[in-house]
Amino acid sequence: MWSHRFFLLGLALTLFGAILHKREERRAAKVEQKHRILQIDLSRKRDRRILALFAFGAVGFLFLTALGSYETYQYTESVDFCGKRCHVPMEPQFVAAQRTAPAQVACVECHVGPGAAAYFKTKLNGVKQLYHTVLVDFDRPIYITDERRPAQEVCLECHWPKRYIGILDRTYQHYLSDEANTPFAVRLLLDVGGGDPSHGPVGGIHWHMSIVNKVEYIATDAHAETIPWVRVTDAQGQTTEYRTDDFKGDPSQHHIRRMDCLDCHSRPAHHVMPPNEAVDVAIAAGRIDANLPFAKAKVVAALTQPYTSKPEALQAIATSLRAAYPDAVQADPLIAEAEAIYRQNFFPEMKTDWRTHPNNVGHKDWNGCFRCHDGNHKTSDGKKTITASDCNSCHLILAQGTGEHLKKLNADGYAFFHIDSEFSDFSCAMCHTGGPQK
Ligand code: HEC
Ligand code: HEC
Ligand code: HEC
Ligand code: HEC
Ligand code: HEC
Ligand code: HEC
Repeated sequence: MWSHRFFLLGLALTLFGAILHKREERRAAKVEQKHRILQIDLSRKRDRRILALFAFGAVGFLFLTALGSYETYQYTESVDFCGKRCHVPMEPQFVAAQRTAPAQVACVECHVGPGAAAYFKTKLNGVKQLYHTVLVDFDRPIYITDERRPAQEVCLECHWPKRYIGILDRTYQHYLSDEANTPFAVRLLLDVGGGDPSHGPVGGIHWHMSIVNKVEYIATDAHAETIPWVRVTDAQGQTTEYRTDDFKGDPSQHHIRRMDCLDCHSRPAHHVMPPNEAVDVAIAAGRIDANLPFAKAKVVAALTQPYTSKPEALQAIATSLRAAYPDAVQADPLIAEAEAIYRQNFFPEMKTDWRTHPNNVGHKDWNGCFRCHDGNHKTSDGKKTITASDCNSCHLILAQGTGEHLKKLNADGYAFFHIDSEFSDFSCAMCHTGGPQK
C-alpha cells in the first residue's frame, strides 16, 4: 500500500517538475536568445533557487524511496519531525508546545487532517516549505495564511462540544512591580456553561459554541483584533446586527467570518507567554525569590529589551541582572530562571514573541472578549448593546488581594478593586500589554 503512495508522490513530483520546467521555458523564451546556454551562476537568486529545488527534489525523493516504509511515514508524523527537523522556523511552536496543556498531542493531530488525501496535501505543501527553509526565505514570524482547517472540525475530533462545563474556579496570581514584589491575586468563578440544551442550560461563555447560535463578524485587521460589526442568528433564524459608532461601512464588502473556538482559544497547543505572566508564574512557583527587591520589575525589564539574537539577549540579561544584584548567591539562580523564561518565550530569530501572537481568551493583555463585549457595539436603532457587558456577566470575583483578603469569599461577587481603587473601565489592554506596565 505504501509503495503505491510513494509511486503517486513520485508522479506528483515529476508533474511538479514538469510544470516548473515549462514555466521556466516560457519565461526564458522571452529573454534574449544568447542567454539560453545552461549556465549556473550562484550569485543569482534564481539559480540558487533552481539548484536548491533540484537538490532537494533528488535527495528528498531518494530518501523517501530508500526508506519508503511505514517508518518514514511514522517519523514524518512525529512531533520530533515537525519541531526539530525544521528547527528554526518551527522552534517557537515546538518549544511553546512542550509546556502547554495538551503537550502529548502531536502537531499533526491538528495540522494534518485525517486520511490519505490530507496526508498528501500536507506533505506536498511540506516540500514547498523545505524549499523555503533551505533558501532561508520563510516569513518571520510565521502565521497560518491559507484558509485554516475549520476549528470546529479540528477541535471536535477530541473535544466534545455538548459537554456542559459549568463554572470554573480560577485564581490569577500576580506580583506588582514594586520593591516588595507585592502579591496580588484575583479569584474568579468563570461561567463557562455550555452550548447544548440536552446537557445543561445553554448559556455562559460557551454559549458561542455555535451549536444553536451562530455568531459572525468582520475584522478590519489581519489578526482580528478590531471587530466593528457582529451578527447573531438564533435557533429560530432571527438575526440581530451590532456595530460600533465609527464603523459606517458595508459589511458585505468584507470577509464575514463565523466565530469558532479559535476566536477565543487563540493558540491552545502552543501559547507564547507574555513576560509579565511568565515572571508571575516563576515567582508563584518559587523559582524566583520574592524577597529580592524589585525582582519582578527587573526581570521583566531585562527580558523585554529589543534584542536581535538569542545569544545577545542571554548575555545582556545576565549582565543587567548581575549589575542589579552584585551578590552572586542572589544573582545566579535569578539569571538562570530569567534565561530559561527567555528561551521558552522569545524567538528573535523568528521575530516571534507574545507581541506577534495574541491570545484572546480573556481581556487583560489583549482586548479579547472586549473586542465585542465593550458596551460599544449597538443595534442600528441604538437601543441594544451586546449583552454580557458588565464586570459580573462572565465571571464573579469571589475574592481578591492577598493573605487574609483572599479568604473573604463573597458569593455575590466583589466589584473589582484595582490595586488601590475600584475600577470598571473596559480597556485593560490600554495599559496592560503583557510587558512592563505603562
Ligand atoms: C491542539 C491543536 C494543535 C496542536 C497539537 C499544534 N497546533 Fe500549531 N496551531 C494550532 C492552531 C489553532 C493555530 C492557529 C491557527 C490560526 O490562528 O489561524 C496554530 C498555528 C501554528 C503555526 C503558525 C504560527 C502560529 O503560532 O500561529 C505553526 C508554525 C504551528 N502551529 C506549528 C505547530 C507545531 C510545530 C506543533 C507541534 C509541536 C503544533 N503546531 C501543534 C493548533 C495546534
Ligand atoms: C488530538 C486531540 C486534541 C485535539 C485535536 C485538540 N485538543 Fe484540546 N486538549 C487535548 C488534550 C489531551 C488536552 C489536555 C486535557 C487534560 O489534560 O485534561 C486538551 C486541553 C485543551 C484545553 C484546556 C487547556 C488548559 O489549559 O486547561 C483547551 C482550552 C483546548 N484543549 C482547546 C482545544 C482547541 C480550541 C482545539 C482546536 C484547535 C483543540 N483543543 C484540539 C486534546 C486535543
Ligand atoms: C467565547 C469564547 C470561547 C469560545 C468560542 C470557546 N471557548 Fe472554550 N473556553 C473559553 C473560556 C473563557 C474558558 C475558561 C477557561 C480559560 O479561561 O481558559 C474555556 C474553557 C474551555 C475548556 C477547558 C475546560 C476545563 O475544564 O478546563 C475547553 C476544553 C474548551 N474551552 C474547549 C473549547 C472548544 C473545543 C471550543 C470550540 C467548539 C471552545 N472552547 C469555544 C472561551 C471560549
Ligand atoms: C466576535 C464577537 C464576540 C467575541 C470576540 C466574544 N463574544 Fe461573547 N457574545 C457575542 C454575542 C454577539 C453574544 C450574544 C449577545 C446578544 O445577542 O446580546 C455573546 C454572548 C455572550 C455571553 C452571554 C451568553 C448568554 O448566556 O446569553 C457571554 C457570557 C459571553 N458572550 C462571553 C464571552 C467571553 C468570555 C468572550 C471572550 C473569551 C467572548 N464572549 C467573546 C459576541 C462575542
Ligand atoms: C465578556 C465576558 C467578560 C466580561 C464582560 C468581563 N470579563 Fe473579566 N475575564 C473574562 C475571562 C474569560 C477571563 C479569564 C481569562 C483567562 O482565563 O485568561 C477574565 C479575567 C479577568 C480578570 C483576571 C485577569 C488576570 O489575568 O488576572 C480580572 C481581574 C477581570 N477579568 C476583571 C474584569 C472587570 C473589572 C470587568 C469589567 C470591566 C470584566 N472583567 C469584564 C471575561 C469577562
Ligand atoms: C490606566 C492604566 C490601567 C488600566 C486601564 C488597567 N490597569 Fe491594571 N494595572 C495598572 C498598573 C500600573 C498596575 C501595577 C502594575 C505593577 O505594579 O506591576 C496594574 C496592576 C494590575 C493587576 C495586578 C498586577 C499585574 O501585573 O497583573 C491586575 C490583575 C490588573 N491590573 C488588572 C486589570 C484589569 C482586569 C483591567 C481592566 C478591567 C485593568 N487592570 C486596567 C494599570 C492599569
